Amino acid sequence: MDLTNPPCSGLRIGDVAPDFSARSTAGNVRLSDFRGRWLILFSHPADFTPVCTTEFVELAKMASDFADRDCALMALSVDSLFSHFAWLRMIRDRFGVEVRFPIIEDPTLVIGRAYGMVAADAHDSGTVRTTFFIDPDGVVRAMTCYPANVGRSTPEMLRMLDALQATNDEPALAPANWQVGEPLLQQPIATLDDVYGADGDSDWFLRTIKETK
Ligand code: BEZ
Repeated sequence: MDLTNPPCSGLRIGDVAPDFSARSTAGNVRLSDFRGRWLILFSHPADFTPVCTTEFVELAKMASDFADRDCALMALSVDSLFSHFAWLRMIRDRFGVEVRFPIIEDPTLVIGRAYGMVAADAHDSGTVRTTFFIDPDGVVRAMTCYPANVGRSTPEMLRMLDALQATNDEPALAPANWQVGEPLLQQPIATLDDVYGADGDSDWFLRTIKETK
């Protein structure tokens, strides 16, 4: 096993997301065309598999929640465009939801490898469940990596996006389990004088911001 290149090691938070053009279920897409919007780019192991199907059904149901936040969704797997089409048709017919966000075909894994969506020594060509949260400047702001046997939490994907957006324009921090409307935290104090001058026992390291959006 090559431990120098496990899945999800391709990119780090703060990296510019590599640009690419690809065929997708919504026509040709280029990552840089999404500049100015938030983008969630995610990989799935394979079409016509049970967990992936549940993820796509849930994301399709929540598509308007992401759109309301000016965030596009874009999926990717090694499967062909025609496999994607057939799967989306099956999802529409069985679950009554239309997946309208683009699903990229990446048969050569050129994109999957650039993003660390597949291990260099993987025994099959399936990608793992990686999710990249990309800001309007094209910078990776968060990423998650789930195995094939556990589906992602779609409310957590939305919560991550909310937290990234809420802390984007001000020096604020989102605490554990933070939800929109709840208080954010202030950046920790950085000087000893401020530590000694702070009110309360713990105010020097844990202070909420009173005003929330
Ligand atoms: C699934 O999505 O259910 C799945 C994908 C790859 C391997 C096993 C299960």
